[in-house]
Amino acid sequence: MNSTIPDENVVRIAVDLACRAPSVHNSQPWQWRYDDGRLDLYTEPGRLLASADPSGRQLVVSCGAALNHLQTALTALKWSADIQRVPEGPHSGHLATIRFRHDARPQSHDFDLLAAIRHRHSDRRPFGPVSVKTPLPRGLNDVVRRLDVHLTVLGQDARPTLAKATEMTAAARKYDSAYQTELHWWAGHSLPQGGIPADALATADNRDRVDIGRRFPIGRDNNATREVDRSTVLVLSTDSDGRGEWLRAGEALSALLLEATVGGLSTCPLTHMIELRQGREIIRELLPDPGVPQALIRVGVTEKKSPPRQTPRRPLDSVFSIGHRHGAR
Ligand SMILES: Cc1cc2nc3c(=O)[nH]c(=O)nc-3n(C[C@H](O)[C@H](O)[C@H](O)COP(=O)(O)O)c2cc1C
Repeated sequence: MNSTIPDENVVRIAVDLACRAPSVHNSQPWQWRYDDGRLDLYTEPGRLLASADPSGRQLVVSCGAALNHLQTALTALKWSADIQRVPEGPHSGHLATIRFRHDARPQSHDFDLLAAIRHRHSDRRPFGPVSVKTPLPRGLNDVVRRLDVHLTVLGQDARPTLAKATEMTAAARKYDSAYQTELHWWAGHSLPQGGIPADALATADNRDRVDIGRRFPIGRDNNATREVDRSTVLVLSTDSDGRGEWLRAGEALSALLLEATVGGLSTCPLTHMIELRQGREIIRELLPDPGVPQALIRVGVTEKKSPPRQTPRRPLDSVFSIGHRHGAR
């Protein structure tokens, strides 16, 4: 067996798992190409959310999450990934090149993370609090710091500020028809290969009990306790704000979500309150050090009995190709 060129089927399995990564509105804005021991990750600009995400920040964060899912899957398959992040330039859709070494020695935690790729989902129900029984996993800080990303655990005293930023964002967008059309195109009904089905969105009653969630269309997920949301909110931030930081923030988001899932916690990324400048400034002021917020994550405990349905993914062949490097963007 070649120790730097994995069999195409190994890469296919890893990319399939990578595509279980979270993405904004489940847009899955990525493309993968594999050729002769080299895998390249590209954005798919046609899946940009022009209204919610005109700069493409969340598109790149989503691709970063897929990149970290890929690395997690490869480790469990005994392959190390050498990731070369491509600086922004004329070929700005090209995000990363991954090369391989058949030398990973997965530990049992790596298999837990692999299993978490299959179990994780964004849960929009109200959460119970993290507690001594189900604490925030230790070492989260280290996991994100390796990627030059900062983690802030907000105290409950930040909650009114988060609710205010949410309210302000919702009010600013109530009559923004481009935003509303885009949101309703992606969420609340069944698109065969993407978007957020109604089963994964909270009922009106549940939605009202999460005062810091994005105002999605009303869904069908009515399975929740009667409590209001008592989640802990985490913020991922970077020192500056460019495509490289967005990619690493996405990798950190994935790593954090998978660790939390292994720890038995429910999660939901939140980005509505940092999409508009005013909300972003409010969140920035909650950070202990100067930095740029890239994603917030609600973390807590839910009943495990019937989690919301997992969201669909595009068929592998529409996001992954082998060879044809000359046609690459
Ligand atoms: C960059 C990014 C931003 C997101 N923003 C939100 C958000 O504001 N509110 C929310 O409920 N979910 C948000 N999500 C979660 C996505 O909607 C979710 O990942 C997608 O629908 C796929 O579903 P899954 O996470 O259950 O696999 C975000 C995810 C990413 C990667």
